[in-house]
Amino acid sequence: MSSGRPAGASPVVAVVGATGAVGIELIRCLEERRFPLSKLRLLASARSAGKTLPFRGQEIPVEELKEDSFRGVDIALFSAGGGISRRYAPLAVEQGSVVVDNSSAFRRDPGVPLVVPEINPQTIKSHQGIIANPNCSTIISITPLWPVHRRNPIRRMIVSTYQAASGAGAAAMEELRESTRAYLEGRPFQPTVLPHPYAFNLFSHNSKIDPENGYNEEEMKVVHETHKIFGASDIRIAATCVRVPVLRAHSIAINFECERRITPAEVRDIVATAPGVKVVDDPERNYFPMPKDASGGDPILVGRIRRDISDPSGRSIAIFVAGDQLLKGAALNAVQIAELL
Ligand code: A2P
Repeated sequence: MSSGRPAGASPVVAVVGATGAVGIELIRCLEERRFPLSKLRLLASARSAGKTLPFRGQEIPVEELKEDSFRGVDIALFSAGGGISRRYAPLAVEQGSVVVDNSSAFRRDPGVPLVVPEINPQTIKSHQGIIANPNCSTIISITPLWPVHRRNPIRRMIVSTYQAASGAGAAAMEELRESTRAYLEGRPFQPTVLPHPYAFNLFSHNSKIDPENGYNEEEMKVVHETHKIFGASDIRIAATCVRVPVLRAHSIAINFECERRITPAEVRDIVATAPGVKVVDDPERNYFPMPKDASGGDPILVGRIRRDISDPSGRSIAIFVAGDQLLKGAALNAVQIAELL
């Protein structure tokens, strides 16, 4: 870091998009994890300037994001969308900040490390000012799979997501609440944030579809980002991403095929000691990962660990996971990256 901070002094940290769904959780994670910082700056649009947000018992004013906002900032945590990141992250780097970016703007850039601290913390060292935080579905899918992959390389994955509203921001969460109220009261409701009615419905992920292959952007993020984070571009991956009317935790069904035979018991043992992961797998009570249990918690819940009986070779396993989209899927992972810095 080159913002002129004396050696040993705690960094000045800025949160860009501080008023958003992820921004609020970034502030909470910094507080709960006692992140060693000397000053917290909160940045958002002009609409929010003058508001305050609580941090360590104080009310911190929200400032309007401007081109020179990053003077004296050591670490800038960005979560205000790709357009804001593309425009302001390079300016922050010029002003001496290290950027941890939660958008997809730089994730596929070969010069930008894409980091899940439980998987590839060593790649941070190569950063040139920007470190990318992966897509939420990617993080939640692959954090439990990494220790399996290290012991018995994964060759193929089929990923089916059940994604919460939070991934589309605070306004989408509000639209889910409002449309559910309207539905129950028999009132008409016109969605404005998401493309389809959300209450008591689900729909294919609202990102652009590639006309060539028919996959949407969210689905292709899981493919490309898994390749980059695992350092294994030969894993065959297909994803289907769907939004379900859940507020803030993604659930994901994953079928994966390993190089050699593998049993559910082996996978359970490996996952049981994996960092950032908790096994919730109780067939007797039919109790498995659920978004209600994952919401507000750090670990990714893993269960329904069983043979994929569609592969008679014994090399394939099916699991079901749930993780808080705003925490491990976004804010927590970003703060963990900042801790590594
Ligand atoms: P604001 O609340 O002032 O609009 P979410 O992902 O929940 O939708 O949140 C998006 C975050 O990005 C919010 O904090 C929002 O601030 C911020 N944001 C959106 N547009 C801008 C902008 N033009 N400049 C700075 N921050 C922005």
